[in-house]
Formats: sequence, structure tokens, C-alpha cells
Amino acid sequence: MTLKVERLVVEHGAIRALDGISFEVDAGSLAAVIGSNGAGKTTLLRTISGLKDAKLGKIFWKDREITGMKPEDLVRRGLAHVSEGKSVIPELTVRENLSLGGIWRNNKSELEESIGEVINLFPRLGERMDQRADTLSGGERQMLAIGRALASKPELLLLDEPSLGLAPLVVEQIFETISQLCRQQGITIILVEQNAMGALAIADTGIIINLGVIVAQGDAGSLVADPALKSAYLGY
Ligand SMILES: Nc1ncnc2c1ncn2[C@@H]1O[C@H](COP(=O)(O)OP(=O)(O)OP(=O)(O)O)[C@@H](O)[C@H]1O
Ligand SMILES: [Mg+2]
Repeated sequence: MTLKVERLVVEHGAIRALDGISFEVDAGSLAAVIGSNGAGKTTLLRTISGLKDAKLGKIFWKDREITGMKPEDLVRRGLAHVSEGKSVIPELTVRENLSLGGIWRNNKSELEESIGEVINLFPRLGERMDQRADTLSGGERQMLAIGRALASKPELLLLDEPSLGLAPLVVEQIFETISQLCRQQGITIILVEQNAMGALAIADTGIIINLGVIVAQGDAGSLVADPALKSAYLGY
């Protein structure tokens, strides 16, 4: 067990966005979190990464409670969060964005090494190191957002809708890369997606959220095969 969420309740003022959510994600596995608009997916990731306080419940990571810890302390412990809407700094170049992502690395050579690994994974970024982030295409910007998170050498990677607004072929590439990060580098990944089929196809487990509660969770393959879930939540 690496990540454990226990009876998590999170509110935005009068709105209860998460109403008692419990699940576990094994070390080195990929969990897909599926749900429609307003289900509470972003709130869940923001709470895990310390950007939003929980009202009730606990979050454990590697057997330590992390509920309420500061985002920067969690990053130092190996957590990286790619937020919705391409988390890059538009005015900075590709290289500057990647360097900022790796600011937690111990020294310059470790940072250069992490940046080199990101370029290996996304050669397109390597060809655009001095280009400003706001001039990248949508797909390239998403690669940069993921690359920036990877530059910190995370053990736990939270991805909020990485396929949003991308062309089908780019979506396929991004999903393929996410799968590789888990399978080849052993990074534990929580992938939030509206693209239920794409996400469940690469995931080990799935968690389906509706209006702040989990309506189904389990092995990704069995969720896809469940006819009741298909029509109600998976949208195909
Ligand atoms: N800062 C906020 N202030 C008030 N309400 C909020 C805030 N953030 C989220 N909410 C509400 O909490 C609920 C869950 O929102 P959340 O962003 O977690 O959903 P989501 O599953 O990520 O949706 P989407 O797929 O549209 O991104 C929604 O009803 C939303 O309006
Ligand atoms: Mg969201």
C-alpha cells in the first residue's frame, strides 16, 4: 500500500465536494479516477497534494499520515501534481519551466540529469528548449506540464485531465507515456480523466466518483466490462 484515503470529506463553503471517500492505491500502480463535471475529482487531487484542507478524514502515504501537510513539504517527499489546464508558466521558456520543476533536486547535475530524462521522454521539448511556453501547441504544453512534474523525480504523480482539449492522436501518445512512467519507472500514478475508456485501458484500478461519493471501484478491466457502469458513468 502506498496511498490510502480514509473517509475524506472536503467542502467548498456550503458545497460538500467530497462526502466520505475511501480508497487505496498500491505502490507502482496506476489508478484512474473517473467522473463527470463537478464530481469532485480536482478537489480530491488538490486535497491529496495539500492545496485544499480536508474537513474530515485522513490521507496516508507510505504509512505516514500526510493530511494537512504543506504542498512544498509533500513535493520534497516525492509528490508531483499536474493541475487541470496545463500547469506551466507561460512567460518562461521550456528550459526555465523544466528547471523550476526540478528546483527540489539537490544539485545542478541532478537537475540536468532529470531534465535530460524528460527530453528523452519528450524529444519535441528538447527541440524547443528556448521557446516560450505560451507559444507551444496544446499537446506540447501538456508534455511540458508533465515534464515539469517529472523533473522533480516524483514517486507519486497526480494528473488532472491530461487529455483535455488534445487531438485524439496526441491523447493516445500522452496515455502511452503515462503508462510507461508507471510500468517502466515504477511511479505510482493517480490519473483523473473524463476520457473513461482511455484512462481505464491503461490503469490497474479505477475509482468512479459521482457527486462526491464513490459509486464503484476495483479492477479497471471489470469496471469497463460492467454494463450498469457503462451506461450510467462511463459514457459509451
Ligand atoms: N473554489 C471553489 N469554491 C466553491 N465551490 C467549488 C470550488 N472548487 C470546486 N467547487 C465545487 O465543488 C464541486 C466539485 O468540483 P471539482 O472541481 O472537484 O469537480 P471535478 O470533478 O474536477 O469537475 P471537472 O470535471 O469539471 O473538472 C463542484 O460542485 C464545484 O462547483
Ligand atoms: Mg476537475
